[in-house]
Amino acid sequence: MTQSNATLRLALIGYGKMGKEVERVAIDRGIEITARVDIDAPSLSVEGVRTADVAIHFALPPTVLNHVEELAKLHKSIVVGTTGWQSDRERIQSLVRSSGIGLVHASNFSLGVNVFYRILKEAGLLFDRFADYDVSVHEIHHKDKVDSPSGTAVSIANVLLSTIKRKREILAGSPDGKIRPEQLQVSSGRIGSVVGTHSVRFDSAADSIEIVHTAKNRTGFALGAVIAAEWIKDKQGMYTFDEVLEDVFNQKR
Ligand SMILES: NC(=O)c1ccc[n+]([C@@H]2O[C@H](COP(=O)([O-])OP(=O)(O)OC[C@H]3O[C@@H](n4cnc5c(N)ncnc54)[C@H](OP(=O)(O)O)[C@@H]3O)[C@@H](O)[C@H]2O)c1
Repeated sequence: MTQSNATLRLALIGYGKMGKEVERVAIDRGIEITARVDIDAPSLSVEGVRTADVAIHFALPPTVLNHVEELAKLHKSIVVGTTGWQSDRERIQSLVRSSGIGLVHASNFSLGVNVFYRILKEAGLLFDRFADYDVSVHEIHHKDKVDSPSGTAVSIANVLLSTIKRKREILAGSPDGKIRPEQLQVSSGRIGSVVGTHSVRFDSAADSIEIVHTAKNRTGFALGAVIAAEWIKDKQGMYTFDEVLEDVFNQKR
């Protein structure tokens, strides 16, 4: 996916580790960055945001709702990479609908993780038939990550809950005593500078299978977010990155 888009203008909302990586990937593709907004200069009412086609948001979870509200008023489509805002989902959905903007969101914009979800869906459907197997999710991230469990781990857990009928609820963290059979444990580790590792273990008395995704750097997330920005530019409505990829791949067939 090396197509470039010379006409796209991007505003970066959040200029931390991800904002800077998105900038690098976007410039490589010939895209113009018109604004870099972070906590030192948090206003979205700047010329650079007004002249952008799309805003890419990688900031802090509590900023998402206000920023979507402001961007909707400016009629700017948005790619939301920030995680941890699901409690505001309904409000955001109605803002997108009433303003006629486009929004793409994903807890993980890497192409590899989106393939990982599909592999896990198949695995979940298979293990649904074999009640001897238990399943758990574990994620590890760098020590500065603010939300826990990761949005990606929650997405993985939802794939497993939708395919393995005997698992009905997420248990985030450690059980207070014995874990109940219908609970799916999602545990987290925080250490050093780990970019993001997610593993799913299926375990029986006879054997176990572990499926692991390891992010090597932030480039994959940034490339996915930029592909999403190119795609949403002239569209309306709220989409997942999975829907974007499906459309991009279908167009290439
Ligand atoms: N979906 C994905 O694929 C994916 C991948 C990686 C990360 N993420 C998520 O993306 C988010 C950011 O991650 P990161 O690693 O880039 O974090 P980070 O390095 O801490 O960057 C966060 C940025 O947001 C800025 N910010 C904070 N409050 C703001 C405000 N009110 N207005 C504008 N900017 C504000 C921060 O400014 P200061 O530095 O000045 O505080 C910082 O530049 C997290 O939620 C993370 O979980 C998602």
